[in-house]
Amino acid sequence: MQKVIIIGASSGLGKEVAKLLIADGYTLGLAARRTQPLEDLKALAPERVMVHAIDVTSDDAPQELEHLIDMVGGIDLFIYTAGVGFQNMELEPDIELKTVNTNALGFTRMIGAAYRYMAEHGGGHIAAISSIAGTKGLGAAPSYSATKAMQNTYLQALEQQAHMRNLNITFTDLRPGFVATPLLGDNPQYPMLLKTERVAKEIVTAIKHHRHVWVIDWRWRIATALWRRIPRCLWRHLKVK
Ligand SMILES: NC(=O)c1ccc[n+]([C@@H]2O[C@H](COP(=O)([O-])OP(=O)(O)OC[C@H]3O[C@@H](n4cnc5c(N)ncnc54)[C@H](OP(=O)(O)O)[C@@H]3O)[C@@H](O)[C@H]2O)c1
Repeated sequence: MQKVIIIGASSGLGKEVAKLLIADGYTLGLAARRTQPLEDLKALAPERVMVHAIDVTSDDAPQELEHLIDMVGGIDLFIYTAGVGFQNMELEPDIELKTVNTNALGFTRMIGAAYRYMAEHGGGHIAAISSIAGTKGLGAAPSYSATKAMQNTYLQALEQQAHMRNLNITFTDLRPGFVATPLLGDNPQYPMLLKTERVAKEIVTAIKHHRHVWVIDWRWRIATALWRRIPRCLWRHLKVK
């Protein structure tokens, strides 16, 4: 596996995973809306890091992805880490719709583009950072948790479809708990908060081991296994932030 595309590499987990893969000697195509952080990553290995601006909410994003794949010379691994997340106790419509636009529509647009490309070019590996937030509906972040559940289900469906069509495409659904990235703001106060560098390492290991679903870290594996067992009649009374 040599050629990797990362969508959402300008910050947080995507940026950290990119650094690890650059150090490992991979050839990379990096995308996000902001290009300066991508150029900074390119400076680490200019001969094997290509960068390109892509906005996943834009209709032409699949064409831009194909352009980036051409720049890299193919694709073996597609890592999708673009996303937004907000708490929205006032249920501000702009926030809800922006989240759906990026995490559901953008995700579907880009995962679909990568899947179709791989279907036509002999296969590959699709990895996406979803979240533990998809495990249950979270009152503090309705559209975030709902779009993450959608991502979980979509990847499960594509995995089955690829098998039904005998496509050589494999999937890794990565589900971190809370991570101290810019997505959580400047002073995140969240339980069992994880360090970005550590989560990025676990992401790379899970991808290399071709995990199908990987919750990060072990404490969140236990927490989400317990969450799943909480009945709806009880869940609605809990204050989960
Ligand atoms: N931090 C957490 O606690 C946590 C926990 C579980 C899962 N996750 C998930 O991990 C993923 C990465 O998040 P992060 O925590 O690393 O946050 P982050 O630092 O804010 O990074 C988000 C990335 O997504 C990109 N992005 C956002 N909107 C985009 C758009 N319209 N088009 C293209 N790229 C876009 C951003 O790039 P530009 O702004 O330059 O476009 C940035 O590179 C997200 O899917 C998030 O839901 C995060």
